[in-house]
Amino acid sequence: MGENIIPLADLRYAATPPQVPERAGPPRGLLLDSLGRPLRDLRISVTDRCNFRCSYCMPKEVFDKDYRFLPHASLLSFEEITRVARVFVAQGVRKLRLTGGEPLLRKDLEQLVAQLAALRTAEGAAPELTLTTNGSLLARKARALRGAGLRRVTVSLDALDDAVFRRMNDVDFPVADVLAGIDAALAAGFAPVKVNMVVKRGTNDHEIVPLARHLRERYGARAVLRCIEFMDVGATNGWRMDEVLPSREVLARIAAAFPIEPIEAGVPGETAQRWRYRDGGGEVGVISSVTQAFCHECNRARLSTEGKLFLCLFASRGHDLRALLRGRRDDGRPWSDDEIAAALELIWSARDDRYSALRAAQAGAPSRGERRVEMHYIGG
Ligand code: GTP
Ligand code: 5AD
Ligand code: SF4
Ligand code: SF4
Repeated sequence: MGENIIPLADLRYAATPPQVPERAGPPRGLLLDSLGRPLRDLRISVTDRCNFRCSYCMPKEVFDKDYRFLPHASLLSFEEITRVARVFVAQGVRKLRLTGGEPLLRKDLEQLVAQLAALRTAEGAAPELTLTTNGSLLARKARALRGAGLRRVTVSLDALDDAVFRRMNDVDFPVADVLAGIDAALAAGFAPVKVNMVVKRGTNDHEIVPLARHLRERYGARAVLRCIEFMDVGATNGWRMDEVLPSREVLARIAAAFPIEPIEAGVPGETAQRWRYRDGGGEVGVISSVTQAFCHECNRARLSTEGKLFLCLFASRGHDLRALLRGRRDDGRPWSDDEIAAALELIWSARDDRYSALRAAQAGAPSRGERRVEMHYIGG
């Protein structure tokens, strides 16, 4: 393939080439969007591939053997990812999350972890470095990730019952291996481990209390279950409101089994509402993106595997940062970190995304007719 031909897979989502201001000063260290929301959290997708086919994310009928994942040349290298992350940290980002697809499928991921762990904010602090995984490879990799400097892990787990879990991941993957992954993560020093459960009414809602019970009894405060409302993200998961179990009902079911009380909201922009078991058995949370949108505090940006920046989980258009990483100015010089930081400032200051809040207000989706980004491509 000639050098100037863009692989088809790269064109799957529209991306705007970033503008770089004439005079780029040093990074400001704090960016606010048009609604006054700071940029604090960068979620980095390191692969668009996954070994699971959860129906709410990568339904088998769409992501089959003919589906074309991103070609290797499109992916940002670890050096490119670290450079982007350095610029974001200089602009005020405090949390970096590695996601996918399934991030542990990316070869030598611990090398990237080590590079990111060495970054420092303007105040000299290490950014919080975290990973979201389906847990299938965690038993094998937990120690190496910890050794490389990863601070926290979140494991996705939709059921405790083996048959229900195998149906939900749709590749017949046994639940025991994910549970072993959680054990290994705790043994490696990642505590507490967050366990994210996407709840679909009629599919796995009967598993909420058994999973809560299992985590309480086995791990106490060292594992935190968070139930997530099934979201209308992407365009392929056949989302229906009647399959959403509102968090209010989730909490009622948990409270009927184990008395709970609310915990004061912690960090601004947090996705979960947190509750503690009154007997001291740890905590649970709910993430209510459908019934109680949390856009007003959303401080998250997402970087796709091929270097497109998305400002909302429901965006259809990204900003092509890779064009700055790999391209050159008119005078032939590569773009500097300060220039990329200045481009980011322009992008973030124009941000007005708040999809879930608009959907809740029935104001319609701001998708401009373009295809909405898929979660396996942009990360959880
Ligand atoms: P923490 O950052 O430690 O809370 O851990 P975490 O890994 O659970 O991440 P987070 O709470 O940010 O995300 C959990 C889940 O919430 C994700 O997998 C998504 O399903 C959902 N989610 C996260 N961020 C957003 C967001 O900005 N908008 C919406 N609508 N949903 C989100
Ligand atoms: N609704 C809610 N959460 C989702 N995730 C993926 N697809 C959806 C969806 N449709 C989230 C889950 C999973 C993570 C990788 O992405 O939290 O654990
Ligand atoms: Fe894979 Fe996670 Fe998507 Fe399931 S939700 S298909 S585990 S990326
Ligand atoms: Fe943030 Fe968009 Fe999610 Fe709202 S819908 S919380 S703006 S990512």
